Amino acid sequence: MKTLLLGAEDIPLAAEIIKNGGLVAMPTETVYGLAADAFNGEAVARIFKAKGRPMDNPLIVHISEVSQIYELVRDFPEKARLLAQRFWPGPLTMILPKSDKIPDEVSAGLDTVAVRCPSDKNARRLIELSRPLAAPSANLSGSPSPTTVRHVVDDMNGRIDAIIDGGDCEVGVESTVITLAAQPPRLLRPGGITLEQLRDTIGEVEVDPAVTEPLKKGQQAASPGMKYKHYSPRANVILLKGSADAYISFVNSHGENGAAALCYDEDINKLSLPYISIGGAEDYCTQANRLFASLREADERGFGTVYAHCPDTGGVGLAVYNRMIRAAGFEVIDIE
Ligand code: TXA
Ligand code: MG
Repeated sequence: MKTLLLGAEDIPLAAEIIKNGGLVAMPTETVYGLAADAFNGEAVARIFKAKGRPMDNPLIVHISEVSQIYELVRDFPEKARLLAQRFWPGPLTMILPKSDKIPDEVSAGLDTVAVRCPSDKNARRLIELSRPLAAPSANLSGSPSPTTVRHVVDDMNGRIDAIIDGGDCEVGVESTVITLAAQPPRLLRPGGITLEQLRDTIGEVEVDPAVTEPLKKGQQAASPGMKYKHYSPRANVILLKGSADAYISFVNSHGENGAAALCYDEDINKLSLPYISIGGAEDYCTQANRLFASLREADERGFGTVYAHCPDTGGVGLAVYNRMIRAAGFEVIDIE
């Protein structure tokens, strides 16, 4: 299949492709998404094929106006309204009881549907000109999510109909996912909207244990996506837990065999091995913005092992930690 590379001016053409059941990769403020008409089960099934994604992992439906949600859900409770009012359009996904209109391919047979209203202007235009869009991240299943158009081309060229180039993504990690189908509401995936902001808006919010820990044997994932090895480059990522000094002395004595440090700006001058910095140690937004691109860069530079320093978990740091620990396959070494 030939994949068209489109610019913002070609969005009307992209909308036609969607309406004809095709697949279009689109920029969003979080990561690039791989979109199909959310009401067309056959088109949605093609997304799973193109990504190599397990069919039991449900997709997020993207809307451009809050009013579109009534077609998608059976119930839009007060807490969901409050969250929509404060954080939409933006990087927040809400899980709610689904309507009959949602094909099983979207919800993977669950009784709920994930909905998000993105803020990216190109994504919004594409939805306005076509339909609500089912869209996972536009990477091959298991790889780090794409935050630049080049990442999308690397993974999807020849597998989908078109890619819209909207420049680099602003947030850099996927949206925050909260389920309002549970009582109290529960954070399933941290992202650009923080746990602190959610609690400030609707009060009690539980954190699903899978946010920070591996699933125990036989345990069911509240969010099916969390059970898969995720965000993984080919390099072996190892997360080191301890002070900045302990991190530096550990990596400096483990620099052999193509190892590299995934570090913070403050560490750079003290390192004696190759490194990729993801931002200042307390600048969680920059860390989120650069993390996936840095994991892909590690593969391009051929590093066999990448030693990452465990980030703080406040604010957007929780999202960085959640992705890093998955990239590391939960391999954490305590270096203190
Ligand atoms: O920022 C984002 O959310 C990006 C952009 C493209 O919008 N999309 C994205 O989609 O990250 P995806 O498919 O890579 O991640 C969706 C996550 C998965 O972990 C999935 O299991 C979970 O949301 N999910 C979707 N529907 C669900 C449902 N009904 N119940 C529980 N979890 C659900
Ligand atoms: Mg994904």
